[in-house]
Amino acid sequence: MTARKIIIDTDPGQDDAVAILLALASPSEIDLLGITCVAGNVPLDLTTRNARIICELAGRPDMPVFAGCDRPLRRALVTAEHVHGKTGLDGPTLPEPTMPLQSAHAVDFIIDTLRQHPANSVTLCPLGPLTNIATALQKAPDIAGRIEQIVLMGGAYFEVGNITPTAEFNIYVDPEAADIVFKSGVKITVLPLDVTHKALVTAARNDAFRALNTPVGIAVAQMTDFFERFDKEKYGSDGAPLHDPCVIAYLLAPQLFAGRHINIEIETTSPLTLGMTVADWWRVTDRAPNALFLRDVDADGLFDLLTHRIARI
Ligand code: BDR
Ligand code: CA
Repeated sequence: MTARKIIIDTDPGQDDAVAILLALASPSEIDLLGITCVAGNVPLDLTTRNARIICELAGRPDMPVFAGCDRPLRRALVTAEHVHGKTGLDGPTLPEPTMPLQSAHAVDFIIDTLRQHPANSVTLCPLGPLTNIATALQKAPDIAGRIEQIVLMGGAYFEVGNITPTAEFNIYVDPEAADIVFKSGVKITVLPLDVTHKALVTAARNDAFRALNTPVGIAVAQMTDFFERFDKEKYGSDGAPLHDPCVIAYLLAPQLFAGRHINIEIETTSPLTLGMTVADWWRVTDRAPNALFLRDVDADGLFDLLTHRIARI
């Protein structure tokens, strides 16, 4: 089996960091071509810093990391320090990165990579607001026909929202970008809150990361400890979702997930429901399906996979 070529587009973020680690731990299935950063959980200077910290933690200072868009297409940036801490990667104490940031813009890297590789051979994995992806699609419309698929973390239907009562953070931050992506005609798979909220990092699951007793295992446990406190308090649950690794886990083990091909539209105008992913789960409209919207996950299988892979680095 040849490894699937992917680009991770991300705003680390502790859960983004675990997703990057999962990809780096899986080289026989995943060929990570580069990491493109976007403003989201924290501003761009911190997401580019954090992505490089994680590459160095994983022993991969050779991984190309690119800076992308520093703000949404048409709106002021909304960040989430209240969840991720002021650096976006609060929890472990990790050294400042020394590996360089690439000089090319993330959007140009995405476009050039898609044009240089055979059509339908590169998968895009957005883990943050969709600003870089939408900008690439606008700047180079020809790439839409070259993307193998987009597998993204974002949106919600049954869980509705986390940053507002009706919107999930990644979609809310740049709803116009999300609208462009969902209307692009590219094959899309969505890992929404409906999935991630079914895979909580309980104390036992986090202890399993810590018990690996490796620098990476301990850092993952410390990041998760920090990141969890917000959702545990908010939902009153004994664990919190670890959203973004679900994207990489889906590539590695799609049999752990289940969902439906449905239509998804993005609300871009209503002040009350801005950024809502209007998902036609019950197929009550005649709008054409434009995404595979996942709803269920085998949580034990997911955490087994994660723990075993994290153990490899
Ligand atoms: C998403 O928002 C961010 O805070 C997380 O990194 C994740 O990508 C969850 O709504
Ligand atoms: Ca993220």
